[in-house]
Amino acid sequence: MPKTFYLTTAIDYTNGAPHIGHAYEKILADVIARYHRLKGEEVFYLTGVDQHGQKVQQSAEKAGIAPQQFVDEITAKFIALWDKLDVRYDRWAATTDPVHKTCVQGILQRLYDEKQIYKDKQEGYYSVRQEQFLTDKERDPDGEFGPEWGQVEHRTEENYYFKLEPHKEWLLGYLRAHPDCVTPELINADEKLSGDLCISRPKSRLSWGIELLFDSAYVTYVWFDALTNYISFVGYDPSISSFSLQPSTFQEKWPALHIIGKDILIPAHGIYWPIMLHALGFPDEQMPKFLVHGWWNISGAKMSKSLGNVIDPDSLADKYGAEALRYYLMSDIVTGKDSDFEERRLIELYNSDLANSLGNLLNRTLSMAGKYRNGQVLGPGRLNPEPGMAEGERWNLGQQLNVVSGLAVVANKEASGAGFDIHDVIGVLNHWTTQCNTLVEVAAPWKLVKDDSRASDLNAVLYCLAESLRIIAILILPALPKAAHGIFDQLNWKMEPELAGKEARFSLADAEWGKLPDGHIVGKPTPLFPRIETSPEG
Ligand code: MSP
Repeated sequence: MPKTFYLTTAIDYTNGAPHIGHAYEKILADVIARYHRLKGEEVFYLTGVDQHGQKVQQSAEKAGIAPQQFVDEITAKFIALWDKLDVRYDRWAATTDPVHKTCVQGILQRLYDEKQIYKDKQEGYYSVRQEQFLTDKERDPDGEFGPEWGQVEHRTEENYYFKLEPHKEWLLGYLRAHPDCVTPELINADEKLSGDLCISRPKSRLSWGIELLFDSAYVTYVWFDALTNYISFVGYDPSISSFSLQPSTFQEKWPALHIIGKDILIPAHGIYWPIMLHALGFPDEQMPKFLVHGWWNISGAKMSKSLGNVIDPDSLADKYGAEALRYYLMSDIVTGKDSDFEERRLIELYNSDLANSLGNLLNRTLSMAGKYRNGQVLGPGRLNPEPGMAEGERWNLGQQLNVVSGLAVVANKEASGAGFDIHDVIGVLNHWTTQCNTLVEVAAPWKLVKDDSRASDLNAVLYCLAESLRIIAILILPALPKAAHGIFDQLNWKMEPELAGKEARFSLADAEWGKLPDGHIVGKPTPLFPRIETSPEG
């Protein structure tokens, strides 16, 4: 069965508008997906929204509208934003979708029939504000429940529970045997795995959820609804317990790479999800992998609505453009680590790396080719063996040409790893661009053009620059799709009607030195990355 590279992000809560953390994760996944497409792989990218739950129910009540209308309005904001930011997914996972609901209900029914789900009574302290039972872990050092829990009362409630215990030994053994299932770090599940998982809420206090088929007085709560999206939207059939008998459309995608933030690895993705899959009969080799990213903070502190420091990606994209925002979010963080969001850095990096460096390189290459060679790039070109040139000068030029063309191999290798360190790929491309600009300074084409004996040196330099730009465009495409098309258009490359503007213009196989043919005519330069002159406050 041909395999698809199947990747998902977390589905975002719809109790508020999208923020920068959501945007980062969707763009990171989009960039990784695009690197895999560039390699010619079949890719399926699933993302969406987590629409049920207490918070939505409360917000909708406050707004005086039905929860469905409430989530529809917020969902529309997410969809419009991903569109604006060029996040290209293959399937939209919205948890109120009937396809999803039926799958969740089928899964829960099967686990209930198999006695993996049971009903039990819970008695204890309950936070009305956070809608959860509290344990001693939630107590302050002085033994009290802090103000963040609001009103705390003693309650007794019956709910349904999913048995985790029978899978505990299996999970610990699986994680030990597969340390690479989580990037960048191994999860430490041991001490977190205790008790069973409450999977329901009585409708009397939460009606906005998926009803349990075996007890219509209840809805399922949180993780069985949310995590299941990863299989429900790609055709998992809950009535079939044997994995190998699942529809081929499902099997060709699964297992997934889940791209999630560090806050939802333990216990949700690292403990509950593998156990849920194991309980459903998924074999070990079908367990998913996790790419866990860090957080964007503000001056080292968490963004939060109550602090009023939540960054809005929509207005940033309007102010600076989608590409500037994509570039910043991909280049100023190391995957797996946290970073501080600073609008000033966004402007600085865009201006230095894109406007001054890459944009300038494109502009000067095309204007020199136009001015000195009527746009024609002759090559691949050799250095002119003419005497009369100082040894040092010849050596410098030759060496710089080698440095630049050699970077094609380095960059190609970095990108084809299509690893998760997008920041490193961008780093290599920036270094390459800098080396090209250095080549212009070392070679001084404006001097070469005045000396007929150095015509082939000039050709070699112009070829080296145009060919670098062509390959840089391919390798930067995942991060900056619009700019990559812009560079191709200006290079007058892959302009056939069936390719122009399409992603099919780009492939990693084309990112090899020397594929730009001798005599290719490049286009005229138009500024691709106009400098951002506004200040963060402006
Ligand atoms: N709905 C759950 C996930 C269910 S997945 C089956 C959820 N939603 S969320 O809206 O709170 O978060 C969605 C994703 O955004 C998570 O992966 C989370 O880690 C990520 N981020 C939320 N804030 C973030 C930052 N400040 N920075 C980076 N990512 C952050 O959790």
